[in-house]
Amino acid sequence: MIKVLHGEDKLNSKLILSVFPGIDMLGKAFEETGFCVVRGPDLITGGDIRNFFPPANVFAGVIGGPPCQDFSGLNRSPGTYGHKMLDEYVRVVMQVNPDWFLFENVARAPSFEVQGFTQQRFALDLGWFTEFSRLRHFVFGSKSGLLLDPVKSQNKSISGGAVTGGDQRSFRACCDIQGLPSKFDLPSFTLAAKKQAVANGVPLQLGRYVAGLIHSNFYGSKDPLGVAEENIRRCCCECGRAVVGRALYASPACRKSAQRKRDKQKSLNGQLARS
Ligand SMILES: C[S@@+](CC[C@H](N)C(=O)[O-])C[C@H]1O[C@@H](n2cnc3c(N)ncnc32)[C@H](O)[C@@H]1O
Ligand SMILES: [Zn+2]
Repeated sequence: MIKVLHGEDKLNSKLILSVFPGIDMLGKAFEETGFCVVRGPDLITGGDIRNFFPPANVFAGVIGGPPCQDFSGLNRSPGTYGHKMLDEYVRVVMQVNPDWFLFENVARAPSFEVQGFTQQRFALDLGWFTEFSRLRHFVFGSKSGLLLDPVKSQNKSISGGAVTGGDQRSFRACCDIQGLPSKFDLPSFTLAAKKQAVANGVPLQLGRYVAGLIHSNFYGSKDPLGVAEENIRRCCCECGRAVVGRALYASPACRKSAQRKRDKQKSLNGQLARS
């Protein structure tokens, strides 16, 4: 029989669901941080999220991101599949009814809202943690309204690019860049499939960082900043970072991103007025 958790019990539970797991590099980072990760179905293991109906009130968190090919700037003929999978993601989160969720994707992934959650969206680049650059966007949502305070961009020297599916570097080198241990292997995969799966994954360095933030905010000391959540002011670009003093934005990049959003909204309003 499934034990349904409520309130504090669920919040203290470190049982989480990973959706669209692939080889689940993101889930591995959460496991290292002390979570117990249950994996949902994936096409590469013969499953399909469209046939997946998880129980409510069992998982404290949901992690993962839908396939990003249709949202990538490199894709010359994007389709609608990515959007359908994003809808599936939202459906699963609603059904699971977790305390929090973490969505991960490319920078061009569309915005979405899950009813009942306070959300923030922020970018992290592998280049802020290592010498290799890879930009990912994260959306974090929580029922309680408690948000994360992720680092802002840090200037570091970059010596190489992200791992890609058709990467010319050796499988070992690709694993190393993505933060996988030296003995990591996928013995039943072809070399091309191994590289693709590792390229699709969230670099362990980023996964560990976000898992650590969630862990310290939700499972560490109750009041990590020493300030009640309602007294923390958040950046006006909706990245959720805390701001100090009279500042409106956490960084110059936040100010630019908020300006871009306003410009986009203005041009949408203009189009609507003309139509
Ligand atoms: C970006 S990858 C996931 C990477 C993973 N988060 C990691 O860190 O290793 C997206 C995954 O979605 C899977 N996928 C695509 N369509 C799916 C569907 N209908 N049902 C389940 N999984 C699907 C793909 O096979 C792929 O493994
Ligand atoms: Zn911001």
